[in-house]
Amino acid sequence: MNAMQSNHASGGQARILVVDDMATNRALIRAVLGAQEFEVLEADCGEAALTRIAALRPDVVLLDVMMPDLDGIEVCRRLREQEEFRLLPIIMLTSLGSPDDVVHGMEVGASDYITKPFNAVELTARVRAAVDKKRLTDRLDDTESVLFALARVVEAKDGTTGDHCDRLSHLSVVLGEALGLPYDDLEALRRGGILHDIGKVAIPDAVLLKKGKLDEAEWAVMRQHPTTGAYLCSALRTMRRTVDIIRYHHEKWNGGGYPSGLAGNDIPLLARIFQVVDVYDALSSERPYKPALPREDVIRILREETARGFWDPEIIAVFLDILEHDPARLDIPANAVRGRDADLFHNISGDAMEWRDRR
Ligand SMILES: [Fe+2]
Repeated sequence: MNAMQSNHASGGQARILVVDDMATNRALIRAVLGAQEFEVLEADCGEAALTRIAALRPDVVLLDVMMPDLDGIEVCRRLREQEEFRLLPIIMLTSLGSPDDVVHGMEVGASDYITKPFNAVELTARVRAAVDKKRLTDRLDDTESVLFALARVVEAKDGTTGDHCDRLSHLSVVLGEALGLPYDDLEALRRGGILHDIGKVAIPDAVLLKKGKLDEAEWAVMRQHPTTGAYLCSALRTMRRTVDIIRYHHEKWNGGGYPSGLAGNDIPLLARIFQVVDVYDALSSERPYKPALPREDVIRILREETARGFWDPEIIAVFLDILEHDPARLDIPANAVRGRDADLFHNISGDAMEWRDRR
């Protein structure tokens, strides 16, 4: 169970936090909701609301807009800034005479609103709907958490990668932003960074951890990991775009990759973006068979491989532009260049290329 979930996520009594500076309003809502299946908690100001939400993990927050000091809009905005409360249902309590409050509430991420004076039946129905939605996202979160944990197990087992997955998440989002992609795509790229190799969980250690070259049969097993990973994640609708990255991250622009041998724009865009940062990370990080390459060698190899038809030339151009003119954007602390012994990896040997295809 992750931090976002309440103690009641599994189906017990739902907790509703009522935030209003007017004691009479809180008492009224308590009388309505307390008579139903809800446990009602209260906060009498914005600061108290933030403290109680962090401590008590309510399932739904009913949030008055008009409060002294920290008003409901600001409380909502601060909650949405925190990843763990991104999906917490927040119902704004607005006054009939203040239509702007509804607009402002929605702008800062409120889930719904109720206009005061409210109708008891409507209030109960809205809160019940919000609780149902919260429980659905909690269940989804449980499933996602298992997948992410599984991906971390694979990463740890692989042993060669350090913060590989986190770097890939960071790099693909930077490249996605540079290409002007919308939030949903960036989110898919972030998840793809962590989950792309999750299918390796089904590869026997004898193959996954083999030090030498893989034989044909072993390669056949290795090549299954994108399809296996896509299958593992495909049941989740929220993973729809991420599944493309998982399934196609070993395709090549010229059609020479696996598992489907797709070429050019038939390879989904997010997978093509991911491939670029994946190969960049392989070149710029230390691996058992090579040191971290200096930037000029990374740039040269990326250009050579693009000329050989491996990577999408337009995406490579955008990436190289960042790498050459604004490389600080790519940096995360774990990604320090550890060596400059470029000669060891000057031309990509067959062995090194095989390792990269196994990544
Ligand atoms: Fe892979």
